[in-house]
Amino acid sequence: MGESGVIVALGLLVCAWSWVGGTQGEYLIGVGSYDMSGPAADVNMMGYANLEQNTAGIHFRLRARTFIVGEGLEGPRFVFVNLDAGMASQLLTIKVLQRLNSRFGNLYTEENVAISGTHTHAGPGGYLQYLVYSVTSLGFVKQSFDVIADAIEQSIIQAHNNLKPGSILINIGDVKDAGINRSPSAYLQNPAKERARYPSNVDTQMTLLRFVDGESGKSIGAFNWFATHGTSMSNENKLISGDNKDIGQLVKKAQSINATGGKDCNKQANQESKVRKNDGSLFVGAFCQSNVGDVSPNVLGAFCTDTGKPCDFNHSSCNGNDQLCVGRGPGYPNEILSTNMIGGRQFKSAVELFQSASEELSGKIEYLHVYLNFTDIEVELDNKVVKTCPAALGPGFAAGTTDGPGAFGFQQGDLKINPFWKNLRDFLKEPSQYQVDCQNSKPVLLSIGEMFDPYPWAPAILPIQILRLGKLIILSVPGEFTTMAGRRLREAVKETLISSSNGEFNDKTHVVIAGLTNTYSQYIATFEEYQHQRYEAASTLYGPHTLSAYIQEFKKLAKAMAEGQNITIKGPSPPDLSSVQRSLLLGPFGDSLPEGTKFGDIKEDIDFPERGYFRKGDTPSATFWSANPRYDLLTEGTFAAVERLQGERWIAAYDDDDLTLFFKWKVDNSSLHGLAILEWEIPDAAVSGVYRLRHFGATRITITSPINYFTGASSAFAVQ
Ligand SMILES: *[C@@H]1O[C@H](CO)[C@@H](O)[C@H](O)[C@H]1NC(C)=O
Ligand SMILES: *[C@@H]1O[C@H](CO)[C@@H](O)[C@H](O)[C@H]1NC(C)=O
Ligand SMILES: *[C@@H]1O[C@H](CO)[C@@H](O)[C@H](O)[C@H]1NC(C)=O
Ligand SMILES: *[C@@H]1O[C@H](CO)[C@@H](O)[C@H](O)[C@H]1NC(C)=O
Ligand SMILES: *[C@@H]1O[C@H](CO)[C@@H](O)[C@H](O)[C@H]1NC(C)=O
Repeated sequence: MGESGVIVALGLLVCAWSWVGGTQGEYLIGVGSYDMSGPAADVNMMGYANLEQNTAGIHFRLRARTFIVGEGLEGPRFVFVNLDAGMASQLLTIKVLQRLNSRFGNLYTEENVAISGTHTHAGPGGYLQYLVYSVTSLGFVKQSFDVIADAIEQSIIQAHNNLKPGSILINIGDVKDAGINRSPSAYLQNPAKERARYPSNVDTQMTLLRFVDGESGKSIGAFNWFATHGTSMSNENKLISGDNKDIGQLVKKAQSINATGGKDCNKQANQESKVRKNDGSLFVGAFCQSNVGDVSPNVLGAFCTDTGKPCDFNHSSCNGNDQLCVGRGPGYPNEILSTNMIGGRQFKSAVELFQSASEELSGKIEYLHVYLNFTDIEVELDNKVVKTCPAALGPGFAAGTTDGPGAFGFQQGDLKINPFWKNLRDFLKEPSQYQVDCQNSKPVLLSIGEMFDPYPWAPAILPIQILRLGKLIILSVPGEFTTMAGRRLREAVKETLISSSNGEFNDKTHVVIAGLTNTYSQYIATFEEYQHQRYEAASTLYGPHTLSAYIQEFKKLAKAMAEGQNITIKGPSPPDLSSVQRSLLLGPFGDSLPEGTKFGDIKEDIDFPERGYFRKGDTPSATFWSANPRYDLLTEGTFAAVERLQGERWIAAYDDDDLTLFFKWKVDNSSLHGLAILEWEIPDAAVSGVYRLRHFGATRITITSPINYFTGASSAFAVQ
């Protein structure tokens, strides 16, 4: 395939806008994307379960990104949605499917829609329905939920409306130094013979799809799957961020920019100040998650914060204290730098795979989906029948990981619970004897599968799904498979496809795992890793045979797909718990003003250096009197902009999406006035000129009054 690519380098970032010979293509393809950033104040972040980690600004905005592929207008099609979110949520899936049903009828259903999370730990929480996942967010957060549901729906509508004939190229390669195994002592429990088959204790493979418009030959999108945790940003970060998976949002065509100068301060103004507008014709680039379970992006390893020495190998603790053992990213101690570096490494591989992609996918589109009740699946092993268990968490879960240590008094690998915690546990819920036996060797700390008060703490019903696009098989799994667990599942599915078909599947069949998809049920470790009870094993909810159950059930789907059979038993539907959710988070606050000021007025203006102008690498900042960003999320808009003077007009040059511009929100702790702090780390690529910082916000005087939009600007400053 002829490549006459025009690749524009934008620093690290490359505009993926190139050309492939203009055949019509084999499939119908469409892509879409929509802002889902969520409340940038006061909402607990999903991932680390740190009560103090509440949103307070934006590093860069979050998006839902979708591709749809079909065999012509009448043939089978499926939808894949990638969310810049900690994980998928059962309730989101249920509600979005209802919306899709009322809009498109039976075109998009649970069977052929996959919704996957990137596993960023820096997005607002409160959008999952099972209680254990909304404890730290103080229950359900409607605003978090609604913005994601809207974004999924809007991105699917966009992709649907964009459907056109096209081709899909696939390319596979390695990513260097973007992940290490954070539980190597658990990985070592796997049989030596099995381990010897792999060069490393993490998967380094990235699989990339490139979508090419059949008429123009233009690439309209690229999605890739690669396993590494979204934990480059630490559990102390308070800025909304896609972490290391979302550098891809900058893979966009350099666009001309429209100015806002002189316009009214309304909602439109913040949207027009977006540098890269979502006009539906943009390139959609997405970085999706895979078997991420034991893969950390903190590739320098974990060290004791007191001594600087490596942590205990088996327990990841320092003299018994789990909280002192913390992983280091490549930019240590600068976590923003680490995020950019790990994101950059994935991005670099993605660009290389994108540019060199030449193999065109062909063949059938198919999909199969079932729900399973994981409480008691009977699994046939070689010589016996075993069972999965009601969900439970062990003490290794409470210890957290080297990416984000948990509570004091626990260690990964603990096979006992101390009397203090045992008493506390029994106060909450004493596990049944059946559960204790079933979960062995996990000591049951929280028997969440036996806790239903005031509503279920954990999922019992889980979806599994296979999507097929020619030789590519995507396995939608509702959790985080460890490296070895993922390998076993992929191989079992591939072998089954090959052995059950007449040559339709073969050695070239390529299987990828789409992690954290459709719902969330934490981790899946191998049976051997389970015996060691590190964090991933202690969070493997349904007992030692959880992985075997997945493999058994996925093999049934694979066999049915290979034999061209229909699945008639679809399994029990998961519950819709929306009506019983509780929300304890208080409404927005922090929007009183000092006498004589208006929202958007400057509190602290640019602090000029002595030389009178700024240089690249400097960080001019300004603080504005502002209002809580929860009044209006400014979806598809921006809270912050850097504007450059061109002639007599101010033109937006950087916005919320830029990695160099930070929007930080806080409430002044003595006056209780709200403050927006804008900081711009002037990048090397910035052109010399006259700039200013511009802030956009929204407020409401009373609950019933209309939203009032405001804006403010700093003094102008020169950059040379
Ligand atoms: C600015 O926007 C207007 C309409 O919204 C469009 O006609 C014009 O081409 C844009 N200018 C630039 C420089 O993008
Ligand atoms: C880790 O635990 C294993 C037993 O599972 C033991 O053989 C090994 O010596 C331990 N390693 C260290 C460094 O403590
Ligand atoms: C799942 O199975 C268990 C055990 O058979 C049963 O008690 C429970 O009601 C089932 N859950 C759902 C939601 O159907
Ligand atoms: C599977 O279901 C489809 C549609 O319901 C039907 O057309 C097809 O004949 C079925 N295939 C088999 C093998 O039963
Ligand atoms: C107010 O904030 C400052 C700086 O963030 C901090 O040093 C101080 O301790 C805070 N005061 C109170 C009462 O929380």
